[in-house]
Amino acid sequence: MTTTSSILKLAAAVASSVYVLAQVAKIVRQGQNPRLTKLPPTSRGVESLVGNTPLIEIKSLSKLTGCRIYAKLELCNPAGSAKDRVALAIIRENEKSGKLTPHHGDIIFEGTSGSTGISFALLSNALGYHTHICLPDDTSDEKIKLLASLGAIIEPVKPASIVDPEQYVNAARARASAINDDQSDPRNAVFADQFENDFNWRVHYNTTGPEIWTQMQGRIDCFITGSGTGGTIAGVGRYLKEQDASVRVILADPQGSGLANRVNHGVMYDTVEKEGTRRRHQVDTLVEGIGLNRLTWNFQQGEKYIDSAVRVSDDQALKMARFLCENDGLFWGSSAAINCVAAVQTALTLGPGHQIVVVACDSGARHLSKFWAHAARLPADISLQDIV
Ligand SMILES: Cc1ncc(COP(=O)(O)O)c(C=O)c1O
Ligand SMILES: *[C@@H]1O[C@H](CO)[C@@H](O)[C@H](O)[C@H]1NC(C)=O
Repeated sequence: MTTTSSILKLAAAVASSVYVLAQVAKIVRQGQNPRLTKLPPTSRGVESLVGNTPLIEIKSLSKLTGCRIYAKLELCNPAGSAKDRVALAIIRENEKSGKLTPHHGDIIFEGTSGSTGISFALLSNALGYHTHICLPDDTSDEKIKLLASLGAIIEPVKPASIVDPEQYVNAARARASAINDDQSDPRNAVFADQFENDFNWRVHYNTTGPEIWTQMQGRIDCFITGSGTGGTIAGVGRYLKEQDASVRVILADPQGSGLANRVNHGVMYDTVEKEGTRRRHQVDTLVEGIGLNRLTWNFQQGEKYIDSAVRVSDDQALKMARFLCENDGLFWGSSAAINCVAAVQTALTLGPGHQIVVVACDSGARHLSKFWAHAARLPADISLQDIV
């Protein structure tokens, strides 16, 4: 009896010291993990999680093309997209120049129905600001609810052309000026202006580009992404070309956008326009966040680094989204799907053995009511031949 119980006690003691040793070993290993910080947690807020996103291989596409196709996971930023980098850079630069002071009632204005508003809303809360978003009044419920949940002030305006003063970007600019011009209003207002703001492409040049270069250990044949503001393709494209002029920078463009034609033939022109289709929206596609029919400052900063453009239809994008979800467990948004279609086409053109990097800009969860409502209905056994 006593022997049995002391053997049990001994066994328990051995088991618990083995457990303690294993925990110590784990802590030592974690100390070498660059993703875990040595800084005390009190000095780090959610803003410290912006950038340094992982890069993964898209195994199904690599296997089927004989190239290596990788994705930069910008959807791992805390507010769910690459726009966190841009929002944080704009906030920090305005703090430096004294235009924003935390916890002083200062407001950031932006005209966007997309990811940038979400990034500003989240980071404003973290850093002591308010966010006021002007957006078209037909923006999906899903997005309005998300912005509202984050506490942003939301101002819907009628969809209008960019030359109209009440177009949502112009409305945001006007609201910011009104506060700054009012001498009796102690608050400062900043108009973020992502399309024209020079910090946009620069933050990608400073961070996203070098991260990709380092993660790929300098071995990269092609970089492929879409253009919304153009900040990503301009900043990353320029950085990669400066490291190695033979890196090909390829624009992936949705149907209805004029950018692909601009890159390939020098003129902004979209085939849908030729057919005279009347379009309520500027770019007629299910894809959100990319494609444009005007030239922006940020796109222009990148234009000379773009080698060619690939046009992708909505049908191809939907099938690719379904394919990646089914075969790789990658549940991605529409612009990521567009980039992957362009990557496969590029891989098939170049032949096996090339290293291709695309950007995975956001998650499928942002697109449930529109793009994924269609993608989810597609059969699970789509093949790459069905897509390209
Ligand atoms: C989902 C999504 N993908 C891609 C982009 C394109 O990025 P950029 O504005 O840097 O061209 C955006 C932003 O506009 C976006 O919201
Ligand atoms: C980019 O890096 C330069 C040099 O370190 C710095 O001066 C600049 O503020 C950075 N810009 C952005 C937008 O991050």
